[in-house]
Amino acid sequence: MRRSRGALLPPIRAVRVRRGDLYRTLRSAVLDGVLAPGERLPSTRQAAADYGVSRGMLEEVFAQLTDEGFLHRAVGRGTFVTSTMSRLSAPASRNRAQRAPVTASRRGARIAANAACREPERLRAFNAGVADTSEFPWKTWLRMQARAARELGRNALTFADPRGLPNLRAAIARYLAQFRGIRCHAGQVIVFNSSQQALNAISVLLLDRGDPVWIEDPCYLGARAAFTLAGAKITPVAVDDEGIRVDAGIRRSPRARLAYVTPTHQYPSGVALSLERRISLLEWAAQNKSWIVEDDYDGEFRYEGQPLTALHALDSHARVLYVGTLNKSMFVSLRLAYAVLPEGLVEPLANLRTQLDGFTPALQQMAMSLLMDEGHFSSHLRRMRSVYGTKRTALIESLAPLRRLGWSWAGNPAGMHLLVRHERGDYVRSVAASSGLELALLSAYRVAHRSDDGLLLRFGALDEATVRAGAAALVHAATSTIQRRKS
Ligand SMILES: Cc1ncc(COP(=O)(O)O)c(C=O)c1O
Repeated sequence: MRRSRGALLPPIRAVRVRRGDLYRTLRSAVLDGVLAPGERLPSTRQAAADYGVSRGMLEEVFAQLTDEGFLHRAVGRGTFVTSTMSRLSAPASRNRAQRAPVTASRRGARIAANAACREPERLRAFNAGVADTSEFPWKTWLRMQARAARELGRNALTFADPRGLPNLRAAIARYLAQFRGIRCHAGQVIVFNSSQQALNAISVLLLDRGDPVWIEDPCYLGARAAFTLAGAKITPVAVDDEGIRVDAGIRRSPRARLAYVTPTHQYPSGVALSLERRISLLEWAAQNKSWIVEDDYDGEFRYEGQPLTALHALDSHARVLYVGTLNKSMFVSLRLAYAVLPEGLVEPLANLRTQLDGFTPALQQMAMSLLMDEGHFSSHLRRMRSVYGTKRTALIESLAPLRRLGWSWAGNPAGMHLLVRHERGDYVRSVAASSGLELALLSAYRVAHRSDDGLLLRFGALDEATVRAGAAALVHAATSTIQRRKS
């Protein structure tokens, strides 16, 4: 490009220069210092000739850059790059700044150091606690989505109710009455994107900083993270073969504001909370006006007899907040979960929800409610109960040789994971390290140190052959570790 009376403008590689290209090129040239602060630009006539565009286009672009403060125009003298641009640092140092380490707040750094809720990128034995989607009724789901879009019409495009879509709330209430023995109505149900979000919202609403909260020890790490995020004082309460030791909780922290429990299938130990303990827990909560959060994350998947009655169904003092998820029973990217609450908590939680992320997309909720109303959800659950039950049986069969080596596991025939335990913690950790499998240690879920340990086998999304092969690898590692230690 020819130098005229004014700066040399950068070239544009385009057959036909458009207004947007010209604007972006000149703005970048100013920001990157290619056009220096204070430098004079050629006249619009000259620049238009250089770029082969109309003078009007140049006028518009200069006017916009002037309005934005990148250029200033002095009558009779010309157009200049604003001298203030010299106060912006050079592009190289701007890029360096973007890559430099950042300092979070002390609170933020503590929270962000916890990566326990991150999911693995690749599913393998045994990190796959998520739903198996191989049998998912994809075509039916597509039909429901299309129908949902038709039924909602343009309402699908606006704000949705932060409490959840009325149809889905009603479908969930019906489902819970039928399958989990929970008596509730749609007005008590609130829809969330995940149990995690429900736990976060509940803890923000009900807890002040420093309020004592019982968590099971060992505990689901997502729940522990939610209560920690809310600033609660975590009180770990030991779990034995009958579930959480309510007596120990009362001794340690009799006036806790809240107790978090997984009564149907304790996470991660797998035990069920005994009826006696359920009653003690409910009595304590009623006397003390404490809340109980019942996380029923996989209550649908019990492989012998009927699903266990939810704790919520035994509560006559409205102290139990029931949290369930469809992300486990359908598929993890569904992003639908729910809480059943005393009516008085629904509106406050809805307000809180609007301050978190607003609401759950209506289309997804509508499709789910249609799936439930038409009976496809219960058929899917029945099918999946058999799929997971078969895998669990295969796992236990393949692990049988471990029993002779002193390993044990809970008998509760439920869920998508199995915790295998051994009283020698150092041995368990060597087995995990030498197995080549992806195994979470029980000790990672514990708060109080104990000398035994265990391995969490999450098999939900694995196929049966992978489950068997993984179990065989574990048996091999457990056997050869013992042999190595003997020799
Ligand atoms: C105890 C427990 N609660 C909740 C969840 C997760 O539910 P969501 O994906 O809806 O947060 C899980 C997932 O494994 C879990 O183990």
